[in-house]
Amino acid sequence: MKKVYLRTFGCQMNEYDSERMLALLKGEYIPCETPEEADLILINTCSVREKAEYKVYSLVGRFKHLKARRPELVVGVCGCVAQQEGEKLVKRLPHVDLVLGPQNIYRLPEALEELQKGRRPLVLTEMRRDFKPPLVLSDLDGKRLVKAYVTIMQGCDNFCSYCVVPYVRGREVSRPPEDILREIECLVHQGVREVTLLGQNVNSYGKKEAGYPSFAELLRMVAEIPELWRIRFTTSHPKDLSEDLMRAFAEVDKLCEHLHLPVQSGSTRILKRMNRGYSREDYLEKVRRLRALCPGIALTSDIIVGFPGETEEDFEATLSLLEEVRFDEIFSFKYSDRPYARAREFTDKVPEEVKAARLERIHALQARITEEINRSYIGKTVEVLVEGPSETRPELFTGRTRTNHVVNFSAPRELDLKGALVYVLIKDTGKHSLRGEYLETVKGP
Ligand code: 5AD
Ligand code: SF4
Repeated sequence: MKKVYLRTFGCQMNEYDSERMLALLKGEYIPCETPEEADLILINTCSVREKAEYKVYSLVGRFKHLKARRPELVVGVCGCVAQQEGEKLVKRLPHVDLVLGPQNIYRLPEALEELQKGRRPLVLTEMRRDFKPPLVLSDLDGKRLVKAYVTIMQGCDNFCSYCVVPYVRGREVSRPPEDILREIECLVHQGVREVTLLGQNVNSYGKKEAGYPSFAELLRMVAEIPELWRIRFTTSHPKDLSEDLMRAFAEVDKLCEHLHLPVQSGSTRILKRMNRGYSREDYLEKVRRLRALCPGIALTSDIIVGFPGETEEDFEATLSLLEEVRFDEIFSFKYSDRPYARAREFTDKVPEEVKAARLERIHALQARITEEINRSYIGKTVEVLVEGPSETRPELFTGRTRTNHVVNFSAPRELDLKGALVYVLIKDTGKHSLRGEYLETVKGP
């Protein structure tokens, strides 16, 4: 059997796409740990921020000597950078054999056959408006996975002015509900107990397709699957977060009380320039409504600092929004110009050192809030879905609360808790996690 070395950068959507590629290669290739032993190298790339793109070029550059030594080695670049760069990529890195855009990853087997016939390099980056990802079921090979991702829609129609995604992933398309349900049933049959439904903007699920359920309806259909215990989803666009979906947090037991709701900025002026379609007040109102319906809900967010034209006052509006909402965690980024995105034309760019200083202030503020929230768990009993032994401390088990906090906990050695739903008493906090002690098993494994 031949060997494939696959590395994934970027978002969960890419993790999911990588899983599909491995499933497509099954029977011909087995995954390996290092590029040196591989017959096929695949790098699944992300171009959402500049930094991610640099990483790809430096990593792929390093395979040049491997290819020189073993010309039969196939080097493939997939995902968003592949789409964005296309032919340019093979010009810059002539040892790359294959360039596959996100809509084209399903053509991998056929592309490998073409390469076998000596046709190289191959650049497959066509995008179709009516693209439908085929159903490729995963065989987990008895891996005992506890949680998995399932893409329910691809692409984005929002065109936020900083974002490359609509250009590299194309327009929004939803997958048929029956494919989604079949895929989840297949995962659950193999032992998966938690799924995260993925899309760039899950709230728009089914809006363009006649006869499809809405996202809130789809959630309720997924919740009917027996032996599936937990459901999460990401990402939600604040402007499209419907009352029906907010209600699902109160009404669908399996839906975990956590929502990632990227706000990007706390300044209405900047939100307008970002083309986000909501104001600071609209966002805060949604948060109030959510918390009224589901009081314990944990919120997380993405923040961009130093968007073109962001003044000290705009930035302080973001800080004050963080104080007001008290997110459990945020992911914050310095603005970077992206190809095709409109904001790259804005002339009032914020200097690099100002962006760096703002990022630090955001980090410091959020670290304090996260710590306060973490400390509020001490003494509480939480439900944890156990993923297995902790990677860094194998004597502890690790898993997540319904609110998506990582919990590392001690338990009697003889217990095999992987895949079980357990109660844990929280005793202490780490920087990014909670520490506790096993109390009892609720279900499973
Ligand atoms: N610069 C900085 N951050 C960006 N993001 C998207 N595009 C950019 C950009 N050009 C961030 C947003 C988004 C997350 C996935 O990446 O915060 O929510
Ligand atoms: Fe990009 Fe905005 Fe679409 Fe998210 S919603 S993928 S930030 S364009």
